[in-house]
Amino acid sequence: MSMVKEALRTEETQTNKGRTVAGIVNSIETLEGGGFLVRRPFPKAAFSDFDPFLLLDEMGPMDVAPGEAKGAPDHPHRGFETVTYMLWGDMEHKDSSGHAGKLRSGDVQWMTAGAGVVHAEMPSGEFMRTGGRMHGFQLWVNLPQRDKMIKPRYQEIPGSRIPKATSPDGMVSVSVIAGEAMGEKAVIETRTPIIYLHYRIKPGGVVNQKVPHDYNAFAYVIDGAGLFGVEDERGADGQMIIFAPDGDEVRIENPPDASATLEALVIAGVPLNEPIARYGPFVMNTEVEIHQAFEDYRRGRMGAINS
Ligand code: FE2
Repeated sequence: MSMVKEALRTEETQTNKGRTVAGIVNSIETLEGGGFLVRRPFPKAAFSDFDPFLLLDEMGPMDVAPGEAKGAPDHPHRGFETVTYMLWGDMEHKDSSGHAGKLRSGDVQWMTAGAGVVHAEMPSGEFMRTGGRMHGFQLWVNLPQRDKMIKPRYQEIPGSRIPKATSPDGMVSVSVIAGEAMGEKAVIETRTPIIYLHYRIKPGGVVNQKVPHDYNAFAYVIDGAGLFGVEDERGADGQMIIFAPDGDEVRIENPPDASATLEALVIAGVPLNEPIARYGPFVMNTEVEIHQAFEDYRRGRMGAINS
């Protein structure tokens, strides 16, 4: 091969290729847990999962009156991870092994349920009394077969420890919950490679986020509207933008004439490509394992909360 050809090839491999948009998904509104309203792009009837992700719920944003805050009382999980990211409001967490914690605005809890926990996710007593603004996300990340029965693990990261970066011109800022962005690396460890970023893009700002070829990737618009992918598809508040697996970078632009900051999550992960047997709070590989999960829960093998 000539030197020129070799040089060209090197250049080619160094240039990132932007992904196109494969589809745009609207959220449905549904009641979750003790009766709080969530917006949910998936799962729904025709769209059960986005490997390795099983669910995304946006709680709020809503203004809750005193005494009206709701949560999710005691319930089990097995075989996957729940990731809670609070933007406003707070949440108390208690589980069957005696673990307890509080999530405030900006905090993240990455719970690896593994073999099983029984937990309650409720507004704090104080929030219950005062009410206030409530806004947050819960993402479910599937575990590979080899990790489904591991010991439960919690990573509770206060907002102050979530790495953040802002572009030199101040147009774009990011909170790095998982993966890497704008030179910052997440402090949270994941079982399989995951990217979870919260971008804030001012009008006229553009993001080109590196996402390796083998990751499934999507964006979810928290607020505002913007242009996504190489073909500038429009996506707005409450929509999930699915990127095709045809490049190693995702582009998001908030047009210069936009009236508001665009806020979006960028979430990506390497698909597990394993069979999914799913029933409510249990996600395993086979029906037999789901029956076993029910049996273990019923017999108290996942524990119970002592309150
Ligand atoms: Fe839960």
